[in-house]
Amino acid sequence: MVVQPTPEDKFSFGLWTVGWQAVDPFGSATRPPLDPVESVHRLAELGAWGVTFHDDDLIPFGSDDATREQHIKRFRGALEETGLVVPMATTNLFGHPVFKEGALTNNDRDIRRFALRKVLRNVDLAAELGASTYVLWGGREGSETDAAKDVRAALDRYREGIDTIAQYVLDQGYGLRLALEPKPNEPRGDIFLPTVGHALAFIAGLEHHEMVGVNPEVGHEQMAGLNVVHGIGQALWQDKLFHIDLNGQRGPRYDQDLIFGHGDVLSAFFLVDLLENGADASGAGGRGRYQGPRHFDYKPLRTEDFDGVWASAAANMRSYLLLRERARAFRADPRVQEALAASRVPELAVPTLAEGESPADLKADRSAYEDFDADAVAERGYGFAQLSQLAFEHLVGFTG
Ligand code: GCO
Ligand code: MN
Ligand code: MN
Repeated sequence: MVVQPTPEDKFSFGLWTVGWQAVDPFGSATRPPLDPVESVHRLAELGAWGVTFHDDDLIPFGSDDATREQHIKRFRGALEETGLVVPMATTNLFGHPVFKEGALTNNDRDIRRFALRKVLRNVDLAAELGASTYVLWGGREGSETDAAKDVRAALDRYREGIDTIAQYVLDQGYGLRLALEPKPNEPRGDIFLPTVGHALAFIAGLEHHEMVGVNPEVGHEQMAGLNVVHGIGQALWQDKLFHIDLNGQRGPRYDQDLIFGHGDVLSAFFLVDLLENGADASGAGGRGRYQGPRHFDYKPLRTEDFDGVWASAAANMRSYLLLRERARAFRADPRVQEALAASRVPELAVPTLAEGESPADLKADRSAYEDFDADAVAERGYGFAQLSQLAFEHLVGFTG
């Protein structure tokens, strides 16, 4: 089997991923800076389709207008030469010390206004470069001490900020949708909108909620000890999966940003199955199947030189393609179909009430209660052990 990514696979990478110089809280950079133009060329050679960026990845903070234009021009040139697209862009609202207490939810109003201007400026650039998604990750929106924040006021300001950005996008006629990225902590002790569930609930209260969705990151849900497949399943169910950050994480600890598949591999298998096969109980697939970019937000290990950086970029795409192959084989295996039926998985797609049946009708159905033998029904097993093992065997490539 040839594992070669193509643009049809819609793989994209942030400039900040391969360009990470590996500064961590305990040590300085282990790699020199990487020119965004080189990243574009290397990623294109490896078979990627898109590249994404924070404003400051492309244009160093504080650049004057002429310098800014120069950086944009070089980047555009690289895009034209390689055919890479910019499906998404985002704002760095966390790096500069001015954002140490947050951006859109900073206690200091002047900083909130500065942050909004920084976002709007880069939204213009995102639209110019043809992006369709604008991500907002609130890394510094949060606190270390509960004395420091009125959470309800912070959420008012968060909502005001997102509403303002959405209104601007509409006023300008840009074809952009916004995607909020949840994370439980790091860099703040506690970050607002810590999980997919919090973000979805917040979005429902926004003025332009229809144009705001989520950008879940695999590792962020896992840092919170949650099942990322469930989180993404719910985002799909609510038509809110606008974008996704794929990577690897081993349980609740610091944000590891490992290569996709190099964390919880079984979860990665079921995630790819969900994204690619849209697997649902009806067995038909395709319900809310994800059509957007497969975006990798990982960090090449600090131990690596540039050979390792490019090997790790390729590894993300290879892992995804291999898991996609395994997930397809899993779905196509007649033994799996049989096991799914034995486990009554397709039955979950059947509504609990019959068409037109009222609560009164249900009460009148003696078979549902009076004559229902709960003890006898409780004796039936579900066969999940076999089903789960079949998934595992497909994952490790044993189909015999
Ligand atoms: C992180 C985040 C970021 C965001 C990026 C885009 O934990 O550092 O995942 O990498 O995805 O800032 O908004
Ligand atoms: Mn992360
Ligand atoms: Mn991310």
